[in-house]
Amino acid sequence: MTNYSAHINEDVLRTWFSAKTLADPQLARFIETHDLQKIKPTFKDICNRLFGCDNPYHAYRPELLPSPMSYTPHIGPATLGAIEAALGRRPSFGLEVGSFIGSSATILGSWLRETGGTLMCIDTWCGDINMWLLGNFSGTMRKMDGNPVIFDHFMNAMFNNGLTETVVPFRVSSIVAARTLKVLNYDIDFVYLDSAHECGETFLELSLYYDLLPQGGVIIGDDYLMFPAVKHDVDLFCKINNLQLNFTGEGDTWLIQKPVHIETAAVVEVVAEDA
Ligand SMILES: C[S@@+](CC[C@H](N)C(=O)[O-])C[C@H]1O[C@@H](n2cnc3c(N)ncnc32)[C@H](O)[C@@H]1O
Repeated sequence: MTNYSAHINEDVLRTWFSAKTLADPQLARFIETHDLQKIKPTFKDICNRLFGCDNPYHAYRPELLPSPMSYTPHIGPATLGAIEAALGRRPSFGLEVGSFIGSSATILGSWLRETGGTLMCIDTWCGDINMWLLGNFSGTMRKMDGNPVIFDHFMNAMFNNGLTETVVPFRVSSIVAARTLKVLNYDIDFVYLDSAHECGETFLELSLYYDLLPQGGVIIGDDYLMFPAVKHDVDLFCKINNLQLNFTGEGDTWLIQKPVHIETAAVVEVVAEDA
């Protein structure tokens, strides 16, 4: 019989749940030879690094497709307000993990565009279990040749909403993206986690993306009540890390802020100076 707990100790778990890659020699060389300073990247910085060009929308040929299904996003003004209140300022760089046909990306992207910010959207654009198995997604997935067209719907939405200089699509799994972002050392203000909603997978994604955040950074998600796996993994993550779970006031959309640890020595110094 499999006996996980005899072999999977705290060290193994810490390695799995960290965004840091156990780099192979080629990647280790890349990391050593590139001085990847902590930066708040612009749209162009990211496109240059990932695509080797200034703007991937210039090379993309939009597909003429029948309209996709209407997909109501779970975020709106209350959630944007909650992110801004937690940060104490407007964010300039955020991640969306799970973008589908671009409904929530349009909201976040339009918000960031107002202040010249950037949104990176991470998705395989291959769909989740529901999208492959439930009939109501089939007209949008259009997967008769085995290749869902949701990436094309997403790109069309970015063109139609004037977000082609704000939203960067990163077409990989959430895990590949997290480990890539750790190497790139980008300074991330917030993460909106809305991908697989599967037990253990949500916990892993939460762990990796929380790891990427600076102190004070914010991670939000939805479907806390709708998907049992989300509630299970979010509750467990907060319990293990002793974090407070908040709700943005929009449906069951939740928010966690990475605590700010004030250096005790520095505080003592300031108090001593004031005395
Ligand atoms: C619920 S939809 C996102 C909806 C979107 N946030 C909105 O509100 O408009 C989930 C998306 O997550 C993507 N997804 C699922 N598992 C993923 C994974 N492991 N890595 C990257 N994307 C994933 C699917 O392809 C799908 O497009």
